[in-house]
Amino acid sequence: MNKSLKHYLLVLLIVILCTPQSSNAQGLCKEEAPGWVHKAFDVIEKQADGMLKEVKRTQLTPRSIERGLRPSKDWTSGFYPGILWYLYEYTGKAHWQKEAATVTAYLEKEQYSNHDHDIGFRIYCSYGNGYLLTGEEQYKAAVVNAAKALCTRFSEKTQSIMSWNPNKERDWKYPVIIDNMMNLELLFEATRFSGDQSFTDIATKHALQTMKFHYRADYSCPHVVDYDAETGAFRRMDYNNGFSDPKTAAWSRGQSWGLYGFTLMFRETGEAQYLSFAENIAEFLLSHPNMPEDMVPYWDYHAPKIPTMRDASAAAIMASALLELSTYTDNGKRYYKAAEKILTSLSSEQYLAQPGTNGHFVIKHATGNYLNGSEVDGTLIYADYYYAEALLRYIKLNNNQSLFSYDPRQ
Ligand code: GLY
Repeated sequence: MNKSLKHYLLVLLIVILCTPQSSNAQGLCKEEAPGWVHKAFDVIEKQADGMLKEVKRTQLTPRSIERGLRPSKDWTSGFYPGILWYLYEYTGKAHWQKEAATVTAYLEKEQYSNHDHDIGFRIYCSYGNGYLLTGEEQYKAAVVNAAKALCTRFSEKTQSIMSWNPNKERDWKYPVIIDNMMNLELLFEATRFSGDQSFTDIATKHALQTMKFHYRADYSCPHVVDYDAETGAFRRMDYNNGFSDPKTAAWSRGQSWGLYGFTLMFRETGEAQYLSFAENIAEFLLSHPNMPEDMVPYWDYHAPKIPTMRDASAAAIMASALLELSTYTDNGKRYYKAAEKILTSLSSEQYLAQPGTNGHFVIKHATGNYLNGSEVDGTLIYADYYYAEALLRYIKLNNNQSLFSYDPRQ
């Protein structure tokens, strides 16, 4: 049989297998996913279920074993409802749709809150996913309101969104953190929903400024960059999370936020400069001598003593970003293989909880802020969220399905 006929038959087989009877309510085809992926989702479902009663009783959302259930203003409040939306996507069960909608509603007031940049995480993971999976109009307004609130933190002088408020103790006048790249996704979505181009313009300015001032020549970055609010001038690199030397620190979760952020910039704009930036970040990570064999990074690539604690959340975010990046470039196979390796590591006994253990969190060995001694080598709800997201992306790629239900460049 010649090669192209073989390819044609394979595609035909997948199309046949992915007819509605083998897909869930959203059309997710799971035929070609290996058993460990389904086992992982079984754990995610059981753990999410184990948390649900307490979440509904308190109307708070889980952050970690150490920090417990938190009010909606916590930066992590969007992740648990986001996991419930992903469970709905995976299982197609009306039960998860209902529970995801219930918990998403606990965050309602957050769409108007501009106290920090994390409104993007809060609202996109909850309301944003709600819209993508149900098409319900009520979720659109929340995304647009949140984008408006986020944009109040933008300054033409600094060409950036101010991530956190000024801080005298730390001598921060206009602090911008690499995590902020993640929240640009909300702005593109808001332009699609509202037609208001100003959201996209601000996202683009922020990304360009980040490329210019946040990254070193080797495509690593510190957590924080401070600008002068009056003149817009770059002041210095600094740390909050990660290692304390801003010249060398390469906080692993921050590197993953950046990778994800520039990958989404390419998704949304189609501009080659973002693609090559994301590829350069990927190169820094994948070729780093301190990357462990199982590809679950230490809390900082340049931590003073290696081996040290892992941060499984950095691994989960990186896996999700690499899977998307794999669809855009000639290097795709390498990124896909790296993501697959991370996901199989996270799905091993070492990192994946037994149902009913681990405080009902899914992933073990995640680190919040090592130097502050906060949430070290424990659980983090965002490790669970990006693990679920990466698994869904992996399933879609294995079934020749598009990662996104919308056309990003329209
Ligand atoms: N966005 C806060 C963190 O990643 O720790």
